[in-house]
Amino acid sequence: MKALILAGGMGTRLRPLTLSTPKPLLPLLDRPMVMHIIDSLPAEVDTVVLAVSYMKDLLEGYFLKHDCGRKVVLVNEEEPLGTGGAVRNVRQYLDGTFLCFNGDIISLLDLNDMLAFHRRHGGIGTLALWRVQDPSAFGVVGLEGARITVFQEKPAPGEAISDLINAGVYVFEPELLEHIPPGVVSLERQVFPNVLDRGLYGYRFDGHWVDCGTPAGYLEAQRALLERGRTKVAPAIVRGSELIGPNYIDGASLSGCRVGPFVCALPGASIGEGSTVEGSVLMEGATIGRGCTVRACLLGPGTVVKDGSALQGRALAPLRGRQAGLH
Ligand code: GDD
Ligand code: MG
Repeated sequence: MKALILAGGMGTRLRPLTLSTPKPLLPLLDRPMVMHIIDSLPAEVDTVVLAVSYMKDLLEGYFLKHDCGRKVVLVNEEEPLGTGGAVRNVRQYLDGTFLCFNGDIISLLDLNDMLAFHRRHGGIGTLALWRVQDPSAFGVVGLEGARITVFQEKPAPGEAISDLINAGVYVFEPELLEHIPPGVVSLERQVFPNVLDRGLYGYRFDGHWVDCGTPAGYLEAQRALLERGRTKVAPAIVRGSELIGPNYIDGASLSGCRVGPFVCALPGASIGEGSTVEGSVLMEGATIGRGCTVRACLLGPGTVVKDGSALQGRALAPLRGRQAGLH
């Protein structure tokens, strides 16, 4: 079986981090985001097709260096074709029923159970569905039994017909490809509303789900993984520091600081005397000076936080010698 991962978006909501790293390669603890999806695939998936465009060379470089135990095929779009156009663009690599993922989803979904559900219902596709409080940032479905009867992409506040959203994990039959016209096409806006009569089903699941495509989602995914025990404490140096778990500290230097809970600090990162860091990510070589307070921040590789800074809810990355920031 083939699994297709849509990995060509520009990750605009995670800028400036995504100006130097494509979203699927941003680290979630020990692995890039996209590897959490690949590692969760059922055994029957032998080939992973990645639909890429933005920063495809970095993705190609990663998969040349890392063997993920399955055949990986990267298919480029010169100009991004949208989520539907991306599916059509890889059609020659697909055969039979296939799995399809938005590349920024972390979840506890049981893919084998979802496949069994899809085979039982026998429609053109099955969408995983998740319940949220505010569905306006997502695709929203209306259901009759298990059958999807309405699909609304990003409805205006107050107009959503339910609180069940498209979780960005699909099982499709190859027949879906016949309903995707050439060019730039959105699966959610153009294809789903047109194939409802072919049998589009909704698979609900429990546990956990998060879209890591926003700073808040990214930190929530990291927190969930840490709560599930994906912790590590292997600092290069800890001088008189207090660690409040769970954290993932791998080869970072901590000096007289207070770290945690829910902090990920990757090799070469450092935190100086008297600083407090909570619920944040320090990518490779990110440096927090002395006397800083850093909460709910995403610090890209090599970011420097000056002594005495107080940061909350920021995404920062060095950019051509300067530092770029986003609230
Ligand atoms: N190859 C390719 N080409 N991939 C693309 C393109 C493109 O032109 N545009 C977006 N993608 C990829 C992104 O990289 C991401 O992995 C996935 O498609 C979804 O795009 P997002 O930009 O993250 O969409 P979203 O989060 O606003 O909304 C989508 O996900 C929600 C769940 O998180 C929709 O599918 C919603 O319906 C859904 O609820
Ligand atoms: Mg997304």
